[in-house]
Amino acid sequence: MHARALPDYLQQTYRWAYLDRRWLGWLDRPLVVSTILWGNAGRLMDRAIAHFAPGQQVLQAAAVYGDFSDRLLNRLGASGHLDVVDVAPLQVANLRRKLRGRANLSVRVGDLAIPRGACYDGVCCFFLLHEVPPAVRRQIVDNLLAMVGGGGKAVFVDYHRPRRRHPLAWPMRWVFRHFEPFAESLTRQEIRSLAGDGARFTWRKELVFGGLYQVVTATRDEGTEFCEPGPGPASA
Ligand SMILES: C[S@@+](CC[C@H](N)C(=O)[O-])C[C@H]1O[C@@H](n2cnc3c(N)ncnc32)[C@H](O)[C@@H]1O
Repeated sequence: MHARALPDYLQQTYRWAYLDRRWLGWLDRPLVVSTILWGNAGRLMDRAIAHFAPGQQVLQAAAVYGDFSDRLLNRLGASGHLDVVDVAPLQVANLRRKLRGRANLSVRVGDLAIPRGACYDGVCCFFLLHEVPPAVRRQIVDNLLAMVGGGGKAVFVDYHRPRRRHPLAWPMRWVFRHFEPFAESLTRQEIRSLAGDGARFTWRKELVFGGLYQVVTATRDEGTEFCEPGPGPASA
């Protein structure tokens, strides 16, 4: 995975959220993450993390504010390894600072839209897909699935179109229109449909909080061609 210039969508839409040091201290708090997710952050994190097991090598696709990586690392335990890749050097530096002293961890700069010859037991993508334009979203989904080894699992947690008359449907539409210009396009498509190689996986979708959120898992079918996870990468 090669580091490269920051993507245009990140610089134009999310500069304040992810590239501006002045906002970082305000946004990177569990309470803020929980508020943005209407009190569902802990429950969504728990559901994502429950799909991974102690001892696994897992890729976390992009940094997440709050204590998500800490929780995931705890789940993987002393014999597991967490590799976090984010395209923004500021986010990588911030996560390294937050998790300083933790073993079995690598945090690196990289663009997940660019293919990389790595392999993991599992891949976790927490609220990244709604923040990227549709074409980049497809690239990211394909790249993440390509890094799932045999029997391994990719877990996507993100927004979903809520059920009819959901009390937050209109507020969320307003938020998306003003702050999250790519999010509505995600709510109109199935994550599964973004995968070029989706037939090699068993897909499951679970809806949370009246359908406002989705937890989608893609488990690599045995017997299909897949990469092999090697020894965990050196900590960084
Ligand atoms: C995981 S998403 C959203 C997380 C959520 N809003 C939270 O609570 O933090 C945000 C991260 O995705 C990263 N990102 C965006 N596009 C990326 C890409 N193509 N490759 C790697 N990281 C990317 C951004 O730099 C940012 O740190």
